[in-house]
Amino acid sequence: MIFVLTGAGLSAESGLGTFRDEGGLWTQYDLEEVATPQGYGRDPVKVLDFYNARRANAAGAAPNAAHHALARLERAGRARLVTQNVDTLLEAAGANEVWHMHGRLDRVKCNKCGDTWDAPETMCPFDACGSCGAQKLRPDVVWFGEMPYHLDEIERALAEAALFVAIGTSGTVYPAAGFIEHARMLGTPTLELNLEPSGAPFDEGRYGPASEVVPPWVESLLGAASS
Ligand code: OAD
Repeated sequence: MIFVLTGAGLSAESGLGTFRDEGGLWTQYDLEEVATPQGYGRDPVKVLDFYNARRANAAGAAPNAAHHALARLERAGRARLVTQNVDTLLEAAGANEVWHMHGRLDRVKCNKCGDTWDAPETMCPFDACGSCGAQKLRPDVVWFGEMPYHLDEIERALAEAALFVAIGTSGTVYPAAGFIEHARMLGTPTLELNLEPSGAPFDEGRYGPASEVVPPWVESLLGAASS
């Protein structure tokens, strides 16, 4: 099984901004204000507005050739897809299962009872939880200082992987940024597909826009036939 870790670069050509590139989200917004529990505590309206806008962008986006290629690899039973992205473009491309380490924009979570459900287009601060009635709703995304999802399963999948591939991620946010070292420690071959080298010690790299680099890599594994 190939362990595939994806980041914002995968969805860049679908029109969703990355975080740290020129004009990226963290050059426009203070992440302490919009992506931490403390920021939400101080100004929930600002935080909900930020995610409402991102949800609207994501809802208007379509998967690109790289999402389609990865979904094909997953459907063929060759890849475990793990993403840091909160969009669902891999699912829109037909992937059966994607582990969203940083949660999903299209889901709501109650901060009080932990229940989750599909997000409305626009979340409001006075919406109440259908299970416990609390008005403490948030997007089901992981903020800085919080524990990412699926970490136990990820550790098991990394241990079993025949190849570790990182696609469109700068490798700056832990724990995902540490997967390359973990793979190397296990003796697993590592490959990076990215716009430019991230600087992490991958065994091999292929560089260019994801929509141009990922499909030929998948074809080299599966052949060019459509499925
Ligand atoms: P970054 O914005 O840090 O990095 C994006 C990476 O994608 C960079 O290495 C770019 O070179 C590359 N890139 C840009 N355009 C590309 C393209 N068309 N094709 C291929 N690669 C391209 O985004 P992430 O690494 O995903 O977390 O960021 C990780 C986490 O930091 C995010 O999940 C988010 C953020 O803060 C949270 O919000 C918790």
